[in-house]
Amino acid sequence: MSVGIDEISFYTSNFYLDLRTLAAKQQTDPEKYYTGIGQEKMAMATHDEDIVTMAANAALPLIERIGTNAISTLLLATETGIDQSKAAGIYVHRLLGLNANCRVVELKQACYSATAALQMACALVARQPSTKVLVIASDIARYDLDTPGEATQGCGAVAMLVSHNPRIMAIDAEVGNYTDDVMDFWRPNYRSTALVDGKYSTKIYLKALKKTWDSFSEVSRIGFNDFSYFCYHLPFSRMAQKAHQHLAKSNQSELSAEGIEAQIQPTLRYNQIIGNSYTASIYIGLCSLLDNVKENLAGKKVGFFSYGSGCVAEFFSGSIQEGYQACLHTERHMNMLAQRQELNYDEYLALYRYPDPRQGESVEIPKATLGRFRLAAIHQHKREYVVC
Ligand code: CAA
Repeated sequence: MSVGIDEISFYTSNFYLDLRTLAAKQQTDPEKYYTGIGQEKMAMATHDEDIVTMAANAALPLIERIGTNAISTLLLATETGIDQSKAAGIYVHRLLGLNANCRVVELKQACYSATAALQMACALVARQPSTKVLVIASDIARYDLDTPGEATQGCGAVAMLVSHNPRIMAIDAEVGNYTDDVMDFWRPNYRSTALVDGKYSTKIYLKALKKTWDSFSEVSRIGFNDFSYFCYHLPFSRMAQKAHQHLAKSNQSELSAEGIEAQIQPTLRYNQIIGNSYTASIYIGLCSLLDNVKENLAGKKVGFFSYGSGCVAEFFSGSIQEGYQACLHTERHMNMLAQRQELNYDEYLALYRYPDPRQGESVEIPKATLGRFRLAAIHQHKREYVVC
């Protein structure tokens, strides 16, 4: 019996800032962003969106198809949680109308935790094949203004239905893991923006790739040349390009530079115009691959490198299934991206600086998102979500 991803769908905000606008304000050459880090636009969550509303919006198309009673467990991965105690997935569970017998839990380990959730979901399904697990990754990437990280902000959520005999991708059991206690990127509880040692973080990312690949190669018979595509964690697209060149070189790949680039290029397209979405980014990369490659990918092997600062990393693999095209949400994804509205710099700043009440004051939040779910108010420290 195979287990893996039966259906996948993502959501991002309806608003974005073009990095040319940011570059003009900073008096920086826009090519530093467009070419240097490989990013064009960054999605900005509206003041009535957060990881809960994005998660529910990402999962809605899956639930509309499968129904509200089919899910036995909802695992929500995030590193921008809204509560130290209550799992964000409980709000999502209500917004989607899921069955009260569904288990809900939140997972955290920087950008890695969606992969932990996916593997745990596969294990639950392997134990009880009738089980269907909903895995959601949802994050808003925020750095301080005027820091090198600012241009790598973004937001997004991805929802994956995990089942036996999956229609999109079977996930292989063999994995390579790596953990190391490092301070490359972190966010103490009292901060709303991340702290990052940028250059150091890129070095640790590459080191973790080598370590997980070595560990994967010890347990798996699948070699570098067996893979057609690779999905990487995408803090910014150039990071994945550099990482993949590094991996190809260390495996003495005979592919040309163009051939190596072709193994990841389709996975980058959505990230280049959304920005970092932390836990969701690698799986939005998978959507990008599935939606943008027109040739039939059935039977192709895909390698995944999942990285979470701090750090935990994993290399694993999957096989695309026959007939996967019929299960994709390509048109919905493309329409959502095409209908986004561009922000000017002041509008971006207004969203960035929108007050986040912390003293229990009551606030009604005006509607801005075009998504189905929104944060409508905060009263007595309680967040109130509504269906639009
Ligand atoms: N035209 C073309 N390219 C240009 C250019 C121009 N005018 N100006 C600069 N560049 C190039 C540079 O040469 C450089 O390329 P190389 O890396 O190939 O040398 C690239 O643009 C970036 O320039 P800098 O190195 O000067 O950029 P920076 O220091 O201002 O910022 C960064 C880079 C440190 C990665 C910053 O974006 C950052 O801090 N990002 C957040 C941290 C991050 O994403 N880390 C990734 C690993 S950690 C992780 O993956 C977890 C996570 O999600 C955060």
